[in-house]
Amino acid sequence: MEIREMKQMFFEYFGGEDKNIRFFASPGRVNLIGEHTDYNGGFVFPGALKMKTTIMCRVRDDKKIRLMATDLKIMVEADIDNLANYKDLKWGDYQLGTIYEMMCNGYEVMGMDMLYDDTVPHGSGLSSSAAIEVSTALCVATLSNEKKGITTPVDMIEMAKLSQMAEHNYIGVKCGIMDQFSSAMGKEGHAIFLDCKDLSYKYVKLNLDGKKIVIANTNKKHSLGNSAYNQRRMECEKGLEILKTAMPEKTCLGEISLAEFDMHKHLIDDEIVLKRVEHVISEDDRVLKSVEALGIGDVKEFGRLMNASHDSLRDLYEVTCLELDTIVDEARKIKGTLGARMTGAGFGGSTVSIVEADYVDEFIEKVGKAYTEITGLTADFYVTELGDGGREILA
Ligand code: GLA
Repeated sequence: MEIREMKQMFFEYFGGEDKNIRFFASPGRVNLIGEHTDYNGGFVFPGALKMKTTIMCRVRDDKKIRLMATDLKIMVEADIDNLANYKDLKWGDYQLGTIYEMMCNGYEVMGMDMLYDDTVPHGSGLSSSAAIEVSTALCVATLSNEKKGITTPVDMIEMAKLSQMAEHNYIGVKCGIMDQFSSAMGKEGHAIFLDCKDLSYKYVKLNLDGKKIVIANTNKKHSLGNSAYNQRRMECEKGLEILKTAMPEKTCLGEISLAEFDMHKHLIDDEIVLKRVEHVISEDDRVLKSVEALGIGDVKEFGRLMNASHDSLRDLYEVTCLELDTIVDEARKIKGTLGARMTGAGFGGSTVSIVEADYVDEFIEKVGKAYTEITGLTADFYVTELGDGGREILA
């Protein structure tokens, strides 16, 4: 929605004057490769999208927080002194959970009227949650710093970490840092090569030699996702404990090479745990190879690695589903597709493909048609560029 339209809506809902209004925005993300590696201290290679959450906000002189969304006609009203108690809200829990986390970490939270405009489709595996969390964190931190007379810019990595903590503590999903980091730190035209063990990172200019990034949203919501996600995490921890009996110096799966894994994998007799660990360690290796391949402009090799990533997520990590596999299978039938894989947590959500520009229309038409025939659902397609991370918008 345009800023002008947001303003109109804001005053319609909240009344008052056009004074002391602020805008903050933070995007969703697409992960190019490196899935389910972040919470294992591994590598990821995401980029920020142009689709984002925009907040229009105005400080109040009491302790009320009022939330509205441009696409929902309900107002959520919360009391600052009672922020721990809104976990069961159908909408507003991510917002209030982040504000609460900020408060617990020493930020000063003031009463606010906040209007949210989300263009990242919810439940699409494109991190609509991180977009809400990071924009909210940035909003609270900016206002709190001003109140306290702090003039240094808001530390966006800190915003990513606090947003992740909100998701752990308030929402109950033990997610890794990838989504919030991408939303906070994205850079136009670049992907982020991030080592989740110590958060060291490098921007990689994405030169796809004329090929396009095509996202397909299955429109299958990842509803069962949360418990299955936490379950995968536990299986990885179990695998690490076993491998540590041979390599006690290792602190996470991300520190274990493929060669070391091959040497010690016989120690893992639980078949499920073995598959999970094999995925994580091989996926980490694929991220390194992808960054290398793109560095020398070898988009074809990158596509091959994307395909291998999806196959591993399907067969070893078991987080794909009929909808994701169908899009990926159909995508690979198109001549101009270099690689296709699911992106995000899985169990629904979206896929990402690299497609020759001349084949994008055919891709969307044929994949979309076959998808509907097989699943009865309609997919949405986005041909996307990578964008910037969270920021204040001066309007
Ligand atoms: C979700 C989580 C991330 C990451 C991905 C899988 O998006 O929020 O932290 O674990 O799944 O790669």
